[in-house]
Amino acid sequence: MKITATLLAAAGLVDSAYGCGAHLLARAMQAQSPTDCVGGTAPPTTTFAIKNVRVFDGYAFGIPQAVLVSGTKIALVGGAAPPGIPTFDGTNKYLIPGLIDSHVHPQSCGALSNLTAYGVTTAVNMACLDYNACRALKDQVGVADYITAGLFAVGPNSLHAQFFQVPPELTLQPDADLGENVDYVFGNGSDFYKIVAEENGPTQQQQNTIVQLVHAKGKATYTHASYLAAYAQAIASKCDGIQHVPANGTLTSAQTAQIRSQGQFVTPTMEVFRVAFANPALGPLLGLTPADTYDNVVANVASLRQSKVPLAVGTDAVGSLPGILNFPFGLTLHCELQNLVGAGMGNAEVLRAATSGAAKLYKLPDRGAVKMGMRADLVLLNSNPLTDIAHTFDIKNVWVAGRQVTNVLSSKGTSCDPTTF
Ligand SMILES: *[C@@H]1O[C@H](CO)[C@@H](O)[C@H](O)[C@H]1NC(C)=O
Ligand SMILES: *[C@@H]1O[C@H](CO)[C@@H](O)[C@H](O)[C@H]1NC(C)=O
Ligand SMILES: *[C@@H]1O[C@H](CO)[C@@H](O)[C@H](O)[C@H]1NC(C)=O
Repeated sequence: MKITATLLAAAGLVDSAYGCGAHLLARAMQAQSPTDCVGGTAPPTTTFAIKNVRVFDGYAFGIPQAVLVSGTKIALVGGAAPPGIPTFDGTNKYLIPGLIDSHVHPQSCGALSNLTAYGVTTAVNMACLDYNACRALKDQVGVADYITAGLFAVGPNSLHAQFFQVPPELTLQPDADLGENVDYVFGNGSDFYKIVAEENGPTQQQQNTIVQLVHAKGKATYTHASYLAAYAQAIASKCDGIQHVPANGTLTSAQTAQIRSQGQFVTPTMEVFRVAFANPALGPLLGLTPADTYDNVVANVASLRQSKVPLAVGTDAVGSLPGILNFPFGLTLHCELQNLVGAGMGNAEVLRAATSGAAKLYKLPDRGAVKMGMRADLVLLNSNPLTDIAHTFDIKNVWVAGRQVTNVLSSKGTSCDPTTF
């Protein structure tokens, strides 16, 4: 944690510990009103069929069949396309459910639109600093569905509070009324509660109490934890999901077993580590120190998987910050699929994690599978992602809640080298 300011200064990005680079990142994390939303021009929903297509069932692709979409929903899967309706030819193509980015920071409709352009049809927004702006991004038409955290629990003088310029009165004070705090987060329309475990962050006691209060409301808490001590706090708190993995050492088998037995899940966000190791501007978000390595990240993902901890697919993407960093939306979700396969997950397993697995974790029973009655969130691929996970970039068409996405950006062979972003 301590050397992050040095890292930034050394990179010549800022003139003081939390100078203009941090301002820019902070501003980029502020949600904007959806003035640039494509929703108004999104094609209307219709009835159509994708014919003769192989459909992913979570494990394999089936025999060629038809998928009928009516309005926002999948009306039927199987057989031949009924006559007299528009069809898309799925011959030699592969249909998967829309992808879910489990940790991302879209701040505008443009960001949501870029996610959808890469087949990401649900975005789990991991921090909201402006409730009105976040509310405006919900239920937009023709772009990724937006599920959001509220103001996160950050300690005064913590790295995140400084980095995101959280006004002191909105940080979690030692004597804070935690019940009131939790009421505000949900009173302002948040879908879940985000906690940032770090030095000068919430104490273990505060975090435990928050988790209990949130659970009493039937809601979930997710904890940012990017180094060993923070992870221990997240595990002990029994929060629902842990964001990131430690990069400064490896979890013990007792820890991974405890995560599993407590029913917690983990969103490793290997991609943000990959990008951060290539661009120090991101270091402060993770509190990177010289002890941090990508090998530790990979080892932790592998041991969590071995302990059968559910893993979600998330990026931490923040988009383009000119002159500082480009961490593109959508594209990087595909890179995270590749990162997780690199850490030992199977191709079908990682696709499940990014679709039905995530839908289960977030209790979104209306999505994550190509089945009758589900939201018509669909991605039609030209090549088979089970033979090479990089084929998820090979997108022919995307539909979000039945609407065809007209600005597909993805293309086969897109590079995941962060220096090319
Ligand atoms: C991990 O990072 C934390 C916070 O910077 C530090 O207190 C701890 O000693 C580190 N552990 C290892 C094994 O480097
Ligand atoms: C959306 O993608 C385009 C093309 O890659 C890029 O120029 C733009 O900055 C992106 N917008 C956001 C909000 O990330
Ligand atoms: C929304 O949050 C603010 C502080 O963050 C609080 O003052 C306000 O009462 C909250 N609104 C509701 C309805 O809880």
